[in-house]
Amino acid sequence: MRILSGMRPTGRLHLGHLSVLENWMRLQEENECFFFIADWHALTTEYEEPREIKGFTYEMAADWLAVGIDPEKSVVFVQSQVPRHAELHLIFSMFTPLSWLERVPTYKDQVRKLAELGKDITTYGFLGYPLLQAADILIYLAEGVPVGEDQLPHVELCREVARRFNFLYAPVFPEPQGILAEIKLVPGIDGQKMSKSYHNEIPLAAPVDEIRRLTNLMITDPARIRKNDPGHPEVCTVFKYYQIFSPEGVAGVEAECRAGRIGCVACKKRLAGILDGVISPIRERRAALTARKGYVEEVLRSGSKKAQRVAAATLEKVRAALGL
Ligand code: TRP
Ligand code: SF4
Repeated sequence: MRILSGMRPTGRLHLGHLSVLENWMRLQEENECFFFIADWHALTTEYEEPREIKGFTYEMAADWLAVGIDPEKSVVFVQSQVPRHAELHLIFSMFTPLSWLERVPTYKDQVRKLAELGKDITTYGFLGYPLLQAADILIYLAEGVPVGEDQLPHVELCREVARRFNFLYAPVFPEPQGILAEIKLVPGIDGQKMSKSYHNEIPLAAPVDEIRRLTNLMITDPARIRKNDPGHPEVCTVFKYYQIFSPEGVAGVEAECRAGRIGCVACKKRLAGILDGVISPIRERRAALTARKGYVEEVLRSGSKKAQRVAAATLEKVRAALGL
């Protein structure tokens, strides 16, 4: 199956992204995968400060490769290096009713949310965000799109756009399916959703002292005052991390905590060790590949070349279908 997915380069990746990438890695073993960095999509919200996008693009690629996205198996590329995405988006914009875009549930939500933060995204470009996404997917004739649940309405719009194109001109496009993987929801260190905007994230390649510092900041059972008070792991963020990252150690920690046999300081120290076990191989691979001068850039350049060839072939069909 041909698979495509992408991420917006708006910051360094964190532990919450790990299971998304692990899912991509499983997919790349048996499918033809295209993974890309959606820098134009980042521009829809970062248009006032676009200068950071390029740096984040590099960092994101380095994170992907360090985790194990393999450029020998998958096409890894940058959206803006394949300008035909923009041509297809423009053609789609000619026959996509405005109402389809206005009713995408993320649209009004995001406009409202960002307005509260003082950001105005009532732009032409942001309204077209899911249509550009449809072009990203359909230009590779992708059939499967691994995404989070929040992105399903965008995949649905993509299917409608494909159907309308096929109906109006010629049957060029497949109707792609969203692929929902089991994504582990890693909480931030404060127990809320992990997100850059909440400043509660653990970076994917954090140095060991930062892992210790962030682990120490985690919220535990507030009812525990002395270290031999019986604890309630079900309300503790540290415990949630054990559940995700140390399934084999969970039962032991739970028993020790409830019996008041382990203090939170010691419990956090143990967790920091477990997290470092997850992060250190990523950190080391990242250091090795970024030490090779120009390596990440070359991966993106050659991936983008491969993507350009596939995109160009689709645009040939599209132009023919329109008689242009
Ligand atoms: N909108 C996606 C997100 O925010 C990123 C994205 C852009 C994407 N184009 C895509 C994802 C195409 C899948 C397919 O996560
Ligand atoms: Fe949480 Fe561990 Fe403290 Fe129990 S001992 S409350 S699991 S940090």
